[in-house]
Amino acid sequence: MEKHATFPARTSNYYWFVALIAAFAGILFGYDTGVISGAILFIEREFNLSPQLNGFVVSAVLLGAFLGAFFSGRLADHFGRKRLLILDALIFIIGTIFTSVATSISWLIIGRIIVGLAIGVSSYVAPLYISEISPPKYRGALVSLNQLAITVGILISYVVDYYFALHGAWRSMFGMGVIPAAILLLGMFTLPDSPRWILSIGREEHALDVLKKIRGHGPHTIQEFEEIKNSLQHQQGNWKMLFSKTIRPTLWVGAGLAFFQQVSGINTIIYYAPTIFSMAGFHEATTAILATMGVGVVFVVMTVVALPLIDTLGRRPLLFIGVSAMTVSLIALSWAFQGDNQTDLLKWVALSSMLVFIAGFAISLGPIMWLMISEIFPLKVRGLGSSIATCVNWASNWMVTITFLTLVQFLGASGTFLIYFIIGIVTLLFIYNWVPETKEVTLEQIEANLYAGKRSRYLGKE
Ligand code: BGC
Repeated sequence: MEKHATFPARTSNYYWFVALIAAFAGILFGYDTGVISGAILFIEREFNLSPQLNGFVVSAVLLGAFLGAFFSGRLADHFGRKRLLILDALIFIIGTIFTSVATSISWLIIGRIIVGLAIGVSSYVAPLYISEISPPKYRGALVSLNQLAITVGILISYVVDYYFALHGAWRSMFGMGVIPAAILLLGMFTLPDSPRWILSIGREEHALDVLKKIRGHGPHTIQEFEEIKNSLQHQQGNWKMLFSKTIRPTLWVGAGLAFFQQVSGINTIIYYAPTIFSMAGFHEATTAILATMGVGVVFVVMTVVALPLIDTLGRRPLLFIGVSAMTVSLIALSWAFQGDNQTDLLKWVALSSMLVFIAGFAISLGPIMWLMISEIFPLKVRGLGSSIATCVNWASNWMVTITFLTLVQFLGASGTFLIYFIIGIVTLLFIYNWVPETKEVTLEQIEANLYAGKRSRYLGKE
């Protein structure tokens, strides 16, 4: 008999606490991707890196993340969300120690790949776990806490980099990542697993018990329990089921959102902000760093603005508004970078366009992509489906990251941003035709609509 009488609270706010702890996985995601931008300057000098090796060190994390995301679907279904997050925190700690004490570039790369593995797993399992814990009414805000955590992690990494850069202490930049990893590790031990997962392995009594602890004892809890049970009646999920005629359109929506989130060019800004700022005419290093921090702050603030809107205004309107803002700012960026003579006006157009771009992403593709890939798949293939979408996300991230500087070299910054502008238009068409509104709909209702043969766009409320 399992022990399950030890959860700290019975109040209806308990799920906020659960989401908050799980969001430390997001802080680690953001921190460990952002930290490299400052650390690489010193690593390059210390190890005398060629540009190719430099690129390899930066993208090692993406390779690890792809692998982590690839295996995490199966692992999360097998071990459960809680145990996988505990394991993930341990991998973060091991990878961080490797990178901080590395005496050769190969050890450093191995350490970054291990950290990447942990990022890949957390990018997939944290939103999944949170969405399965959340009541439908707050699901959007709670899952998006994870994206907020990513942006906070990025901002913290910029500040930490700036501080340790004064002493050239790149090992400490990486090392600080142990703190959020330890919080995640200890915190996860106190939390229950997702009731949906517990039920999927047949432990009814335990699942109901956990659900009562999270939701309270009302009839709504019993109703939710029954709904989850019903949604589990469908046959066991596998690849064949995922690619079946019924579920395939959902896979396109999930994978499409994951793809378009990256080909929007977001990480050209996150990873190369200082480079872009200096191309725009901010030649002083300090101004470039300040501008980069500005990007970090706008990112966090606008993500906070988005949280309540996701469940009130809805996913589709926010996607339209945000992606439209991004698309307009890309054409402005393309215009700002035209010609060789950088005037002061163009410099400020470039800066404000980048801030609008970040703000647009923060209220749309940033949080909503992760949210929707945790919502739209039926429970039996939810693990598999969202992990494929996450893999697509990391693969597209890698593709954009390694091609960006080459594109700038051959097409110029103006031509490169023009390409991203065209992709923005295609993204809007994709959203219009395919992406459903899932605001205030239970995961079980989304699933029922899918099995009732509704078109992908009409899985939620119309
Ligand atoms: C994206 C990452 C990006 C991050 C920035 C996430 O939603 O998937 O690629 O770096 O947002 O906050």
